[in-house]
Amino acid sequence: MTSPLAQLVRQMPKAELHMHIEGSLEPELIFALAKRNQVSLRFDSVEALRHAYAFTDLQSFLDIYYAGASVLLTEQDFFDMTWAYLLRAQADQVRHTEIFFDPQTHTARGVVFATAITGIDRALRQGRTELGISSGLIMCFLRHLSEDEALATLEQALPFRSMLIGVGLDSSERDHPPEKFTRVFARCRELGLHLVAHAGEEGPPEYIKTALDVLQVERIDHGVRCLEDVELVRRLARERIPLTVCPLSNVKLRVFDTMAQHNLPALLDAGLAVMLNSDDPAYFGGYLNDNFVAVFNALPLERKHAQQLARNSFDAAFLDADSKQRYLDEVEQFFK
Ligand code: ADE
Ligand code: ZN
Repeated sequence: MTSPLAQLVRQMPKAELHMHIEGSLEPELIFALAKRNQVSLRFDSVEALRHAYAFTDLQSFLDIYYAGASVLLTEQDFFDMTWAYLLRAQADQVRHTEIFFDPQTHTARGVVFATAITGIDRALRQGRTELGISSGLIMCFLRHLSEDEALATLEQALPFRSMLIGVGLDSSERDHPPEKFTRVFARCRELGLHLVAHAGEEGPPEYIKTALDVLQVERIDHGVRCLEDVELVRRLARERIPLTVCPLSNVKLRVFDTMAQHNLPALLDAGLAVMLNSDDPAYFGGYLNDNFVAVFNALPLERKHAQQLARNSFDAAFLDADSKQRYLDEVEQFFK
């Protein structure tokens, strides 16, 4: 799409708040790292790997996503992956990004916690000085594992507390409700970490409520199934709870059959604090601007919606008040 609206959404300043850094590993980089680290893959070529990206649901994606992450072994690998993402983010006019990482995916393979976090953190710091992109790192607990394993991961993270802005909850949502992680989230809250959780992606609206009430999260990742509960929608609007919506992900994982069926217009009409995100861009067919162009192509959205999405992205960010205002001023200036 080369319409003026597509140009506008590509060029406008924006923040990204839901992006799993391991989900930015492109097949080419997976193969390059596999070669560098002498890791064998169950795919013969980049093409064969890409061909396997035909997902039927969240779990079918996660199986391949964890296999892809198996090539990450050294601090430099984590740096290279994060740097590649930041260059893509810069091209998409991303001014601020809050990225997730899954330490348990790496520590389970014998990669020490420090290796992953210091590689990612070094790239984020370089991104601030060389690319002018502000950023934060959110550590996710894998919800298919136990709460005791999450607590042990938090212990490993304590020496690196200053590298983290928050914690999140990801992986297989079905049958793993937020309340399974009550104690670890309470401990993170005491540590002053921001709290977020995936909820209402494949799981029911009830999981959005328990993420808010039991875990006391500040943002909901995805949350698109909230529309099944009218009372919940009213609450999300009243309390200005941000929903980090990921449209290409939702279509690839069959949450919606087509982009034309995505409920983003209804979420915006309900006055919800939604913004767009790429989730796992290497697996779902695109980075942040690809998500913007896809939704503006397929759905009845206008310039005012673009402005709202850009505003919401900075509003929902874990930024200090001054930085947030500077970015919001830049959005208003852009739309003048
Ligand atoms: N891990 C990476 N991407 C995810 C998603 N979309 N949902 C849950 N866990 C994930
Ligand atoms: Zn996600």
